[in-house]
Amino acid sequence: MNSAFLDACLGRPPAHTPVWIMRQAGRYLPEYRQIRENTDFLTFTKTPTLAAEATLQPIRRFDLDAAILFADIMTPVEGMGIEIGFDGGPVIKAPVRDAAAIDRLRVSDPEESVPFVMETIRLVREELPGSIPLIGFAGAPFTVFCYLVEGHGSRSFATARAFLNAQPESAARLLGLIADMTTAYLRAQAKAGAQALMLFDSWIGLLSAEDFDVFVAPLVERILGALASLHVPLMYFPRGGPHLLERVRRFPVDVVGIDWQTTLTTARTMLGPDVTLQGNLDPAALFAPHDRLGKLIDRVLHDAGGGRHIFNLGHGIDRATDPDAVAFLVDRVHAGAVS
Ligand code: CP3
Repeated sequence: MNSAFLDACLGRPPAHTPVWIMRQAGRYLPEYRQIRENTDFLTFTKTPTLAAEATLQPIRRFDLDAAILFADIMTPVEGMGIEIGFDGGPVIKAPVRDAAAIDRLRVSDPEESVPFVMETIRLVREELPGSIPLIGFAGAPFTVFCYLVEGHGSRSFATARAFLNAQPESAARLLGLIADMTTAYLRAQAKAGAQALMLFDSWIGLLSAEDFDVFVAPLVERILGALASLHVPLMYFPRGGPHLLERVRRFPVDVVGIDWQTTLTTARTMLGPDVTLQGNLDPAALFAPHDRLGKLIDRVLHDAGGGRHIFNLGHGIDRATDPDAVAFLVDRVHAGAVS
């Protein structure tokens, strides 16, 4: 396969700097709002024709170098026996907060518990141009743990972090179950046709380096290690975690996502030369007039310094973004930095 994205993942010189955008499918696109209009989010993610269409919409509109599966980090959790809902964000009907609740959880075969995800992947692969790989993904253990224990989104996930300290053995058991589920889920995605796999650790920055070492790092390494035999690039996004990057350097991973609070120059120093950095334009930059946006894009390209790099935002695109700003961004990245 001739793909700038896969080349960059694996450290081969790409034909141009590849670019894709976290949350590239979604509400900033009028065509997404239109097909989502009459369907609630959960039903939407469970309907392969709709999820496949949402995956493909940004590829049709922009010259992106990769597609990402349309699903949610909570999608596989129902297979563990947890009831989820959506109310502006994920909601867990009965948050997991004690040993008895953990006893009731199970790790199921994703082909049986979430067959619609694998079907979506198959549909997308039939439609995608051969040069555009499909990224499969999952939430990383701590980020999924945060939602399962807290029960909903939060800025601090105080209940989840309290649980980690009050009941460390139960917390470790829950994290381990999530890691096993995640491994099976990502493996099934690759078997169905996903050509790269990404772990989103959106809330990992809340942990101290010590808790990361004790509770999380061995599990992320276990997942990555178990997926190595699939021979697809593996990506990890530790959002808000510059204090964790020295540890992440030892992970068996091809690509590390960097948020916009850490410069790519700093991340490179901490991670060394043998990994691809992915990021890290501030999503708010897309609201700037094009002359300023161009300069901000060039700054990211400059900070990448000719090292292994995939252009992306530092976090998901804001729903109020003008799609024309995305078109401008993609063209600018492909043209290379204007110095
Ligand atoms: O285009 C893509 O990136 C693919 C699809 C995707 C979604 N969620 C669809 C979605 C991906 C990769 C995710 C990941 C995800 N989901 C994360 C990790 C990345 C991150 O942003 O930190 C997290 C923490 C979630 C949980 C989640 N799902 C939240 C907090 C929310 C509400 C906030 C928001 O952005 O809307 C969701 C809902 C969600 N997931 C939507 C989409 C398109 C919006 C649903 C809608 O109203 O249509």
